[in-house]
Amino acid sequence: MEYKMQLTDAQRAILEGSEGEVKAKVLETLVRFGEIFGAEKLVPVTHKEGHLVTSFGIGLLKPLFRTMDELIGAGLKAEGGFTVDPRPIDYENVRCNPLFKLIFSKIMYSKQADYERQLSKVGLSDADAFSCTCYLKEMGNRPGKGDVLSWAESSAVVFANSVLGARCNRNSGMLDLFGSIVGYVPYFGLLTDEGRKATWKVYVNTSVKPEAQILGSAIGMKVMEEVPYVYGLNKWLGEELNDENEAYLKNFGAATASNGAVGLYHIDKLTPEARESGEALITPDAKTYVIDDEELERVYKSYPVMWKEGAKAKLVFIGCPHLSYNELTLWAENIVEAVGRQGRKKVAVRTVLTASPAVVKRFESENAELKEKLYLTGARISSICPLMYTNNPLTKLQAIATNSNKLRTYSAARYYKDEEILKILSGEVQ
Ligand code: F3S
Repeated sequence: MEYKMQLTDAQRAILEGSEGEVKAKVLETLVRFGEIFGAEKLVPVTHKEGHLVTSFGIGLLKPLFRTMDELIGAGLKAEGGFTVDPRPIDYENVRCNPLFKLIFSKIMYSKQADYERQLSKVGLSDADAFSCTCYLKEMGNRPGKGDVLSWAESSAVVFANSVLGARCNRNSGMLDLFGSIVGYVPYFGLLTDEGRKATWKVYVNTSVKPEAQILGSAIGMKVMEEVPYVYGLNKWLGEELNDENEAYLKNFGAATASNGAVGLYHIDKLTPEARESGEALITPDAKTYVIDDEELERVYKSYPVMWKEGAKAKLVFIGCPHLSYNELTLWAENIVEAVGRQGRKKVAVRTVLTASPAVVKRFESENAELKEKLYLTGARISSICPLMYTNNPLTKLQAIATNSNKLRTYSAARYYKDEEILKILSGEVQ
């Protein structure tokens, strides 16, 4: 077989079948994928724990299940284990009517249990490994600076690249698993020094700290898949990557990645490569984008409202990407306080906060009293993926309110700023 890429003897041997026909196919898929993007070689994956984007057992995904069976039959697995995106269902905390539940479990996600068995066999780290925020300390799948990854989930890739300084392309589902199994990924794009250079200079000149999700949305829609270097945010975030800033950049990054296709951003004086190399990261012909209060408001007002005319929120989702521990604690406090302030005992609109299983466990053990108060309001905590719950024919017509720009982009959910969401769920406004 002819390949354009430079391959080592060990890689050629795998391609020729020294470790079996299926492993040869897995590697060949990665080689062909890399060749499409002009990759000249494969490089080793240095952060061994993978992360998979495909977490849902939709019955229609027959090729996926067949491929998994082939891998399992050949005894292949990701030796370093992997985490995976959140599950699509959680009937206990995100209830749905009995008809929906029947259709969800018997038709839509009829293969969920089978698929999770397959995931276990090919290396799923554990039964609690389901979250898009695998990189949070509680989840523990946290790469270091310079690590090469085989991930695909866009919000996790942009966080790992930008905030942790790891190196990963925006791969697609299954390629993330293939790279984790063979331990190589094609060397192109965001893996290279050149591909990590910024082609946009973004100046944030707002009078208050910008809402992370709207700022990320504005930048994503402007730069699309290019790399922005952002000035002015350190006025609001300072120059230290603490938990609060990481949560802000998690939400900002998810919006850049979903409203555009950003896989890496640099924040002046804050993110690791910007701190290290500063403006040397910017190409000489970089374009410029200035963001002020008016520009953020323009972007916010441009979001389409896809609810039926006159509809009122029936469900609020907070936590896409999943909330960090501090975010979960703050939202719980704010909800309890806002509901009480309205003289109510219960939230006015069904409300679900989403966070990884590890963060939820920490919250339950360190904040049991607050959790009880939160649950008394009727709000619930889940580790579900709100998008998987929402983006299907059954639930897409519900009037769902969210503070997630990713959820808004891929579903009919309506975006509100944090303070507006709090007013809606507490009944202060409808
Ligand atoms: Fe995570 Fe699902 Fe949102 S994977 S980023 S909670 S769409």
